[in-house]
Amino acid sequence: MTPPRHLDTTASTPVPDREPGWWRSAVVYQVYPRSFADSDGDGMGDLQGIIDHLDHIAELGADVVWLSPIYRSPQDDNGYDISDYQDVDPMFGTLEDLDRLIAAVHERGMKLVMDLVVNHSSDEHPWFQESRSGRDSAKRDWYVWRPPRPGHTGGEPGAEPTNWHSFFSGSTWEWDEASGEYYLHLFSRKQPDLNWENPEVREAVHAMMRWWLDRGVDGFRMDVINLISKEFGPDGGLPDGAAKPGTRYGDGSPFYMNGPRNHEFLHEMHREVYADAAILTVAETPGVTLEHARLFTDPARREVDMVFQFEHVGLDHGPGGKWDLSPLYLPDLKLNLAAWQEGLADGWNSLYWNNHDQPRVVSRWGDDSPEHRVASAKTLGTVLHMMRGTPYVYQGEELGMTNAGFTSIEDYRDIESLNHYREQLEHGADPAAVLAGIAPVSRDNARTPMQWDDSPAAGFTTGTPWIAVNPNHTEVNAAAARRDPGSVFHHYRRLHELRHTHDVVVDGSFRLLLPEHEQVFAYTRTLAGSPTLLVVANMSSQPATVTLAGLADQLAGEVLLTTHDDGAPAQGEELTLAPWESRVLLG
Ligand code: NOJ
Repeated sequence: MTPPRHLDTTASTPVPDREPGWWRSAVVYQVYPRSFADSDGDGMGDLQGIIDHLDHIAELGADVVWLSPIYRSPQDDNGYDISDYQDVDPMFGTLEDLDRLIAAVHERGMKLVMDLVVNHSSDEHPWFQESRSGRDSAKRDWYVWRPPRPGHTGGEPGAEPTNWHSFFSGSTWEWDEASGEYYLHLFSRKQPDLNWENPEVREAVHAMMRWWLDRGVDGFRMDVINLISKEFGPDGGLPDGAAKPGTRYGDGSPFYMNGPRNHEFLHEMHREVYADAAILTVAETPGVTLEHARLFTDPARREVDMVFQFEHVGLDHGPGGKWDLSPLYLPDLKLNLAAWQEGLADGWNSLYWNNHDQPRVVSRWGDDSPEHRVASAKTLGTVLHMMRGTPYVYQGEELGMTNAGFTSIEDYRDIESLNHYREQLEHGADPAAVLAGIAPVSRDNARTPMQWDDSPAAGFTTGTPWIAVNPNHTEVNAAAARRDPGSVFHHYRRLHELRHTHDVVVDGSFRLLLPEHEQVFAYTRTLAGSPTLLVVANMSSQPATVTLAGLADQLAGEVLLTTHDDGAPAQGEELTLAPWESRVLLG
């Protein structure tokens, strides 16, 4: 796409008006900068690339751009390891480029949300460098340092202070020979956890956030923010987690997820940083329960606006966890999402299928065969976007982009996948079996370059992309989608329009229909003063017939959006849907 050149993105533009609660009718578009658009041919996306393609996002009707981290970083975890919270990594550009991006976003009437990654920093952050310089360092207590397990020699297997397994394989503890203690890292060893018990840490984070608000950003997506409060014993000790028989590591999550001071810390952040700012705050909260989510999002408690919960994206995890995917049983998904819709009826949900950590939904729960890819991508979009909450679209989802199809470990770049592969092979696992487990679920599925056109590197770069482009970019690409009125792109655009034009989509209460049906996802949204909205979707590659008792009027009502213009008319309360056909009806 040729970017329009008429916009003066160097002029400083005022921050758009932010009415309290503006995000209730908003759609958020997530940009993963390293994979979005490369403007200088080094194979890596950058800020200028984003500026050049902002009109794509604006035309899609998104209201907010969420930017995954662009801060200075050694890139051990693609920028989720930050060594300077107040600078841009040179691979993405400069602070001035970021100012131009903020202005260009605002000029298009959109808002910009930054990623806030403060459960941990990089081990190359000056705070950590100072902390590790010695046990008497003034910043020693900014991180979590502990002596070896009593009776053990530091650095020896089993001497770690607890048996916790890191999210990225191995122990959560790294031995520091020079200062004779271990430091905690729930993620990679280059991502040491900050010690939120220390008020100086919290003050430094608040000051940094205020600095970004002054720079014009409109909100924060808070990375794993429900891991910041660890359950320290009175002596500062941390307990071992339960370990499966025959495994070396245990599950420490009961001692660091939704910890004892989590709500207090977020309430304090609200008070110190954004009480009067009317920004968007979304807390990424793995392992969050509905009960905790209600507390996080209750407006009266003044913590955050919404959370990313993980229950629905765990429904297809098998006995071996995320690397052991099994087919989704549709009633499980419906019941789970309905529980969140009803459970947060007085609060607010975020709605998502995809992000930079999840495989592509059309490959996961849709049907990415040539026959059904477009319809299944549209139908998945429909059932998600017509629910109550703020929808998040991950780059390429609006094109129906699919999983990467990688077949060799050399194709992968993601630290989580690579560490898992190495750890499994160390335990004697069959490489082919491990690869087969990684392929459908690896985070790299989401991270292949954005497919702008059918040229050799998909219009992402003129150089060599940092990770392989999906070969299906010859068909699946933005240029083709924008030309085709029947594309996933235009379907998503209409979904966003419906949110902006129909109050019932924003505020209507949710009722699940046919909970046990194994093919069809159907629900209503009702709001006083509005006709009822009915969503009925065949989530399978076979035709489906349903009877919707008492909903004949809605079935015969106005068709707001459909995947199939030639769909069969309802016969009273009975409706037959083609594979992956869905309808949004008002009546
Ligand atoms: C969650 C982020 O979404 C993920 O990409 C990252 O690896 C971890 N947090 C650690 O920051």
